[in-house]
Amino acid sequence: MCGIVAAVSKINIIDALTNGLQRLEYRGYDSCGIAILNNNELLRLRTTNRINDLIEQSKPYISNIGIAHTRWATHGKPTTDNAHPHFSNNRIALVHNGIIENFELLREELTKKGYNFISQTDTEVMAHLIDYYYEQSNDLVSAVTKSAKELKGAYAIAVFSSDNPNLVVGARFGSPLVIGLGHNENFLVSDIMAISDRANKAIYLEEGDIVSITHNSYQIFDKAGNEIKREIKDVKSLNQNVDLGPYAHYMQKEIFEQPTAISDTLSCIDAQNMFSPEIFGQDAKEIFTKIDSILILACGTSYYSGCTAKYWLESVAGIPANVEIASEYRYRESVPNPNQLVIAVSQSGETADTLAALRHAKNLGHNYTLSICNASTSSMVQETKLTFLTKAGREIGVASTKAFTTQLVAFYILAHSLAVLKNKTIDKNAIQNLQHLPSAVQAVLALEPAIISWSETFAKKEHALFLGRGMYYPIALEGALKLKEITYIHAEAYPAGELKHGPLALVTEDMPVVTIAPNDALLEKLKSNIQEVQARGGEMYVFADANSQINNSQDLHVITLPENLGLLSPIVHVVALQLLAYHTAVARGTDVDKPRNLAKSVTVE
Ligand code: M6R
Repeated sequence: MCGIVAAVSKINIIDALTNGLQRLEYRGYDSCGIAILNNNELLRLRTTNRINDLIEQSKPYISNIGIAHTRWATHGKPTTDNAHPHFSNNRIALVHNGIIENFELLREELTKKGYNFISQTDTEVMAHLIDYYYEQSNDLVSAVTKSAKELKGAYAIAVFSSDNPNLVVGARFGSPLVIGLGHNENFLVSDIMAISDRANKAIYLEEGDIVSITHNSYQIFDKAGNEIKREIKDVKSLNQNVDLGPYAHYMQKEIFEQPTAISDTLSCIDAQNMFSPEIFGQDAKEIFTKIDSILILACGTSYYSGCTAKYWLESVAGIPANVEIASEYRYRESVPNPNQLVIAVSQSGETADTLAALRHAKNLGHNYTLSICNASTSSMVQETKLTFLTKAGREIGVASTKAFTTQLVAFYILAHSLAVLKNKTIDKNAIQNLQHLPSAVQAVLALEPAIISWSETFAKKEHALFLGRGMYYPIALEGALKLKEITYIHAEAYPAGELKHGPLALVTEDMPVVTIAPNDALLEKLKSNIQEVQARGGEMYVFADANSQINNSQDLHVITLPENLGLLSPIVHVVALQLLAYHTAVARGTDVDKPRNLAKSVTVE
């Protein structure tokens, strides 16, 4: 989603602003822009091309202050006029992440007051509203504070005025904003990674905070205008390796990082405590003892991790579990159960729908909340009683990979912790299997050449079907999602038993059918499903595993995963599907890490 980089410095700051935007490119954007001071007047450069275009345009200029932005269009097309920064009265410049819900009303009121609108965005109202209050007080902090009271929706903003070349003001409500403190320069950014080469301290703003920065000072205020303090963090400790290394894309790097990501996630727990409730927080034991069911809320890939977890929670711990797409749950009338544990699952911890669903659950009276999240400083982590932090490291590719497998590790631990607490018998190899998981994933990565050879066929197709049964059905869904989001091939997933209830009609020689065929209790049933496809001339691509006993033939292609790791096998299988999607995208020449129309962190509804 949109990215903000704003700065005030003793020296020319334009490079830091554009470099910062490049570091935020992973979030996804369709236009970008920068506002600086040139001869004491506002100057704005905007483009619907890539950030390199902005770099070229900004070369002739020098400025000690500026705000820069990557836009992912919500209100108004991705045109230059709609790109940020937005100006008011040629003295206020503003960039914004999020959505202003009451923008139409504000637009009407501001038009009556004489303001002219030149874009179709919701953002422009904020520039004019702040200008309106600035006119009365000549005080930018007060103008932002007053405007914030009139805004409905979610936003992070950075704004400056041509009257003051050493002041940027920001506000956070619903979208992340971080202060970066450097040497004789300070920043406001959506993600500290944008300026991790220039700032050594970071301050994560909280909901409702308003902040002002100069080149050598900063102040934070609460909604009422009182000055407040927030924790200062060391940027080094937040910094994570984001170099591509030997890989062609971040997605490939992140797929290959999974053995480490899983080990890192496990490394903070010693083997004796692997299934102790305390891993989820101090109050976990007390809460886990009281709960009678589980509700999982998430979007996209995180939703599919919840769907897989449902099988584990019910079969291992005997606890009824429901999984809901966050954007649906938040708007439907549901029946709250105060004894239910609500779990929000998210890589970023900032997904607007998941956050809203969590807040909705809390408003309905759900007091037992847990987040499974990859971002320790995220809103979601702050808003739940219990937390499990996955240690996947920074995920840059829009297509989520290592976040998914580490979420599954968290759920596996949760299911077993609950089972132990309820005195259920668990597999005596449960911990051993978990510790072996990184090696099992590593062994799948070694199958890359065989998967590449399949991907050449897939790259020529426009449709694909994915089949799985039981806990592999959500893995089939995740495989189909990976394929569609980065290759733009239409892919659908079905529980294999559903095939003859409709989707079998789609099967022709042009429809490759990917099947997950582990050696488990449903294998014989699955083999019948494979026959149904073959009998209709379909071409099967089967990921089997040790002892599945499925052999290659003319229209049946088999890659055999080296071992079956029981309940953990969905994690092993999904890695093969990630590689298939990745190499098919490479063969089709798509922008793997930044697929069209998508954003990494979906911070708007
Ligand atoms: O950060 P989150 O895990 O909350 O993100 C949820 C989805 O937006 C995300 O998983 C999305 O579906 C990915 N692009 C899938 O690869």
